[in-house]
Amino acid sequence: MSSTPSSGEHSAATLAGDEPGVAASAAVLSVRHLRVEFPTRHATLVALDDVSFDIAPGEVLGVVGESGAGKSMTGNAVIRLLEPPGHIAGGEIHLSGRRIDDLPEDDFVPLRGRHIGMIFQDPLTSLNPLFSIGDQLVETLRTHLPIGEKQARERALALLREVGIPAPETRLDSYPHQFSGGMRQRVVIALALAAEPELIIADEPTTALDVSVQAQILALLKRVCAERGAAVMLVTHDMGVIAETADRVAVMYAGRLIEIGPVGEVIRRPQHPYTEGLMASIPGLAERRERLYQVEGAMPRLAAIPAGCAFSPRCPHAAERCRAERPELLPAGAGRAACWLHDPDNPVVRQDAPRDEQEVAR
Ligand SMILES: Nc1ncnc2c1ncn2[C@@H]1O[C@H](COP(=O)(O)OP(=O)(O)OP(=O)(O)O)[C@@H](O)[C@H]1O
Ligand code: SF4
Ligand SMILES: [Mg+2]
Repeated sequence: MSSTPSSGEHSAATLAGDEPGVAASAAVLSVRHLRVEFPTRHATLVALDDVSFDIAPGEVLGVVGESGAGKSMTGNAVIRLLEPPGHIAGGEIHLSGRRIDDLPEDDFVPLRGRHIGMIFQDPLTSLNPLFSIGDQLVETLRTHLPIGEKQARERALALLREVGIPAPETRLDSYPHQFSGGMRQRVVIALALAAEPELIIADEPTTALDVSVQAQILALLKRVCAERGAAVMLVTHDMGVIAETADRVAVMYAGRLIEIGPVGEVIRRPQHPYTEGLMASIPGLAERRERLYQVEGAMPRLAAIPAGCAFSPRCPHAAERCRAERPELLPAGAGRAACWLHDPDNPVVRQDAPRDEQEVAR
């Protein structure tokens, strides 16, 4: 595995970012060495650098990291909604085994809605205020599926029922403004699911909602996607949301994927020093763990990502090698982490390791 976006010598099942138990061939979404660049007058900003991961059918992959880490950029690259001049400059994206990043625009557009459903933070951006909920669902269904008006209305009703809208037959003719925020997001979930897409990209789907309804909406999203076998990429800055909803979690930092693994393991035994710090910010977790610490400092701007490990200026364990050589994703715990602490041949030694381990390393 290489840290360059061009390495393609591995078979699909052994590429970077694969997790044990998730064969790339079975994955709904396979992202390989994804690189997104924003050319500017002074330099080319690398917004995503060598990002690789898979999502299996029915699986929720949580994508976390602090603001500006590249979470939304990853989802937007998959659905090709990058703001120009941002563009994919390397890597591959496969949906259900079909390469989609190199499709001509006319072939890609129909994938949105039909094969990839989208749920964004603010339900009002996904709903048209001028049309009733029923009309929007019927139109979405008829755009993507070969069904008539009557059948589409029946399916719209069933979808509203499925997402927990009470008395849906009386709500079909209501307009978005007549719904609460939580009910609107349920409608957006119904719209996203309407054409039975195999992948749902949900970017901060509950951040704009009242705390009291967030858990219900997440539970709903998880249940309906699991029942349909849809893969979910759940982008959020909230580790609490991940803990409740995700099966695996991908941690991003400065446009790179720095840890990926089963959610319980990553929370209980984070393998990357940045993830350790991130976990320390979850109330109720920090006091149970000795090694957790709050991360001091700020994530670097895209124009000033340091050489080697991007986290090295903030890492308590940073060694000379960390500042020179970029760590690749290495097996760590039950997943992988991009950190030289996990180099099986020549590991960097933790600064909080017992003194004799530190002495041996010197
Ligand atoms: N149009 C743009 N031009 C240049 N850089 C951009 C542009 N849009 C985003 N970026 C940069 O890309 C990086 C990743 O942004 P992204 O929106 O993916 O962050 P995020 O992890 O989703 O953060 P948040 O939690 O705030 O939503 C950031 O450094 C951001 O400044
Ligand atoms: S590679 Fe080095 S600097 Fe980066 S997280 Fe690991 S120990 Fe810290
Ligand atoms: Mg974002």
